[in-house]
Amino acid sequence: MTQPESVAEFFDRISGHYTEAIERCVPRYREMLWTLLYYLPDAPWVPKRILELGCGTGNLSLLLRGRFPDAELGLVDVSGEVIAQCRERLGNLDGVTFHQTDFRDLDLPAEHLDLVISSISLHHLEDDAKRTFLRKAHGWLRRDGILTYSDQFAGETPELYRKHLEEWERQSRALGATDEEWSDWMSHQEVADYHAPLRAQLQWFCDAGFTDIDCPWRHLLWTIVRGRRP
Ligand SMILES: C[S@@+](CC[C@H](N)C(=O)[O-])C[C@H]1O[C@@H](n2cnc3c(N)ncnc32)[C@H](O)[C@@H]1O
Repeated sequence: MTQPESVAEFFDRISGHYTEAIERCVPRYREMLWTLLYYLPDAPWVPKRILELGCGTGNLSLLLRGRFPDAELGLVDVSGEVIAQCRERLGNLDGVTFHQTDFRDLDLPAEHLDLVISSISLHHLEDDAKRTFLRKAHGWLRRDGILTYSDQFAGETPELYRKHLEEWERQSRALGATDEEWSDWMSHQEVADYHAPLRAQLQWFCDAGFTDIDCPWRHLLWTIVRGRRP
């Protein structure tokens, strides 16, 4: 029996046309990235150390670098091809480091980060692994540090979830997603993606010790959540 394609193999394979594909297959993708940054605290809060998980080809990384040019920015992804593109797009900038690794295996020092951020990547973790990740991220953050991510979430009921999925497909096809592209994403989703509902994820933030927990934006499955380490 053939093994299903791994997450790294899938993103290696589509890395050459990732941005065009994601703009078709995630309606309001650019707005979502902009909103992730908009809901970070205003000055005088300025992160000195940032960790981005699942950076892909660097669409969010570039925005982070633009907004916080003096911060140390650690970028993590399991796919060698996307990391290579991210590196090319960001250039050899001081303070930017690239790590090709599985973010589940990260073992980092306590209380040394000001911002842990991710876009459409943490749904690759099953529920228990998401909970573990939230606890780990809380430990890595300094006081007033922020964890925020945008991601695909389930609905609170099967009917709401089904409506999210149906409308997602309709909107993506209106944006130009082809049959082939759609079925490729869906095959990947079937083997590699785990969508958890919003209420559960907010509770996991709470259980991990975060405060100021909120969901500042949502469109169908795509949801932004954030919390602060008190
Ligand atoms: C849908 S892409 C998102 C890329 C980018 N953040 C964006 O918003 O366009 C998901 C990324 O997460 C990475 N990823 C998924 N699971 C991972 C894991 N366990 N460890 C590290 N990277 C992972 C994939 O390789 C891929 O580049």
